[in-house]
Amino acid sequence: MCGIVGYIGNKKASNFLIEGLSKLEYRGYDSAGIAVINNGSVEIRKHKGRLSNLVEELENNSADGTIGIGHTRWATHGEPSDINSHPHQTSKGDITVVHNGIIENYNELTKWLKSEGYEFKSATDTEVIPNLIHYYYKGDLFEAVVKATENLEGSYALGVVCGQEPDKIVAVRKDSPLIVGIGNGESFIASDIPAVLNYTRDIYLLEDNEFVVLTNEGAKIFKANGERINKEIYKVTWNEDAAEKGGYDSFMLKEIHEQPKAIKDTMSGRVSLNEKINLGDFKLTAEELEEIDRIYIIACGTAYNAGLIGKVAIEDLARIPVEVAIASEFRYRNPIVTKKTLIVTLSQSGETADTLAVLRDAKKIGAKTLAITNVVGSSISREADNVIYTMAGPEIAVASTKAYTTQTVVMNLLGMYLADLKGMLKSEDEIEIKKALLELPNKIEEVLEKKPQIAEIAKIIAQEKDLFYLGRDVDYALAIEGALKIKEIAYIHSEAYAGGELKHGTIALIEPGTKIIALLTQTNLKDKMISNIREVKSRGAEIIGIAYEGQELDSSIFDEIIRIPQISTRIAPVLGAVVLQLLAYYVAKERGCDIDKPRNLAKSVTVE
Ligand code: F6R
Repeated sequence: MCGIVGYIGNKKASNFLIEGLSKLEYRGYDSAGIAVINNGSVEIRKHKGRLSNLVEELENNSADGTIGIGHTRWATHGEPSDINSHPHQTSKGDITVVHNGIIENYNELTKWLKSEGYEFKSATDTEVIPNLIHYYYKGDLFEAVVKATENLEGSYALGVVCGQEPDKIVAVRKDSPLIVGIGNGESFIASDIPAVLNYTRDIYLLEDNEFVVLTNEGAKIFKANGERINKEIYKVTWNEDAAEKGGYDSFMLKEIHEQPKAIKDTMSGRVSLNEKINLGDFKLTAEELEEIDRIYIIACGTAYNAGLIGKVAIEDLARIPVEVAIASEFRYRNPIVTKKTLIVTLSQSGETADTLAVLRDAKKIGAKTLAITNVVGSSISREADNVIYTMAGPEIAVASTKAYTTQTVVMNLLGMYLADLKGMLKSEDEIEIKKALLELPNKIEEVLEKKPQIAEIAKIIAQEKDLFYLGRDVDYALAIEGALKIKEIAYIHSEAYAGGELKHGTIALIEPGTKIIALLTQTNLKDKMISNIREVKSRGAEIIGIAYEGQELDSSIFDEIIRIPQISTRIAPVLGAVVLQLLAYYVAKERGCDIDKPRNLAKSVTVE
């Protein structure tokens, strides 16, 4: 997601700000900006696009001064543009802010601040922050930042400067990362350690709700009530590359671990137990929905696999016929698309050529279109009539992980939203799904604790040439994704089968020692799955089951069982997905594969 930096010292601030931001580029960004205090006034330079655009501007129009803050933005609210880029400034003065995170209650705050005479220029959630700080400003920036944060819901790491107190930066974090670097006669803030490693290895790791005031005398850390906090310095001993990956050996593993946070962000402002599902700008009326006679979910690869889960959720809850189609197939056949069709284009990048082509064709016919994507301002998000963002944050590893799980969450939200609009969302279903979704981040953390067991199993699987994934209903959809994951990063041939299909041909492939990953999260189909497992077990297959904690199973037919926490069967595939991602990761690692950049693959497929 976004990256923030700040500098105070006796050198030209913009030099560090640009270098620090370049070290945060790995987080993904679409615009960059800085604010520097020059002779008591705040000067802002900001641009859409690469950091080089900002550097070019600074060459022609330098921003001098020894105190400043900087930002790389990865758009979440409002498309990438100069205006939406950070820093943002209050409309009534020069209090200036960089922000990483999401302000969930920005709509209410914007309304209130407008009634207090503040004006808003951007489409961001961030712009409320400098206005709010200005509202509380009575000559003490620290105090005003504390008061402003009391009103903020969501996540934030903030760097704040103003011309009236030109000798300081105030910063704070809550649920977004922020570190303080202590140099020789200079101090820094940054979203991540690599930004400051060329300057210092002495770091304060800020905790949530800790405020820091940087001046030329150094960094002082406070609680909100003004009490000083004495923190120990953390000495960095590792290198930059490891730091960008947050200490993980690959972006894939880092992104697997980011899923609890990514899913929280996906649900932020959209799901709560007592309110209707809120899909932001995607609003249909019941009459408009009545006009829709079928839905096509159009996608490729992993996104297609998430679409398979979406089909089950939407059909089950909203009783609207859904077909999931591979974009490259759909565009060259003659599907029944009319003005009554809703085309849902599902894409992490929002740039996949085939998916985009289907969207364009559908629009020509006059079909209704909805994009579900992770990248704000991407082609698919701009061209569709409506868009729902998955909010997973930038996904850097080629193998999709957090994009997939957040897509499946959005699919369930969409199912509930459409069902509710049709007046047919049963309250017991609604409560079951919402509760499960809200528990999901913690339950994913529990699944992550299974890593040692999964790593051991991976040692055996790594020797295989062929692998089978078995499941029924949404477990079958998940099996398809599990098989894809291991193919793409560990280069093992793998196939997914619906349990009941085995005897229609595939069982002929089973021989002594064949490894089978069997998914058992669909409780109503457990006995059927067990029968299928017995069929292959009796032909010599070795079975790795994925089942709930406490679920009674005949252990004689399993060689290993990976247990996941109990959760609604509708949401269980998300937990199963984390197991299968970890399995693919550990098998790839065993086989010495390049996990983040598997052979022959690209992150974004923008050609046919
Ligand atoms: C697999 C993977 C790909 C993508 C596919 C679609 O791990 O990442 O299969 O899912 O190329 O990409 P998007 O979602 O960007 O349209």
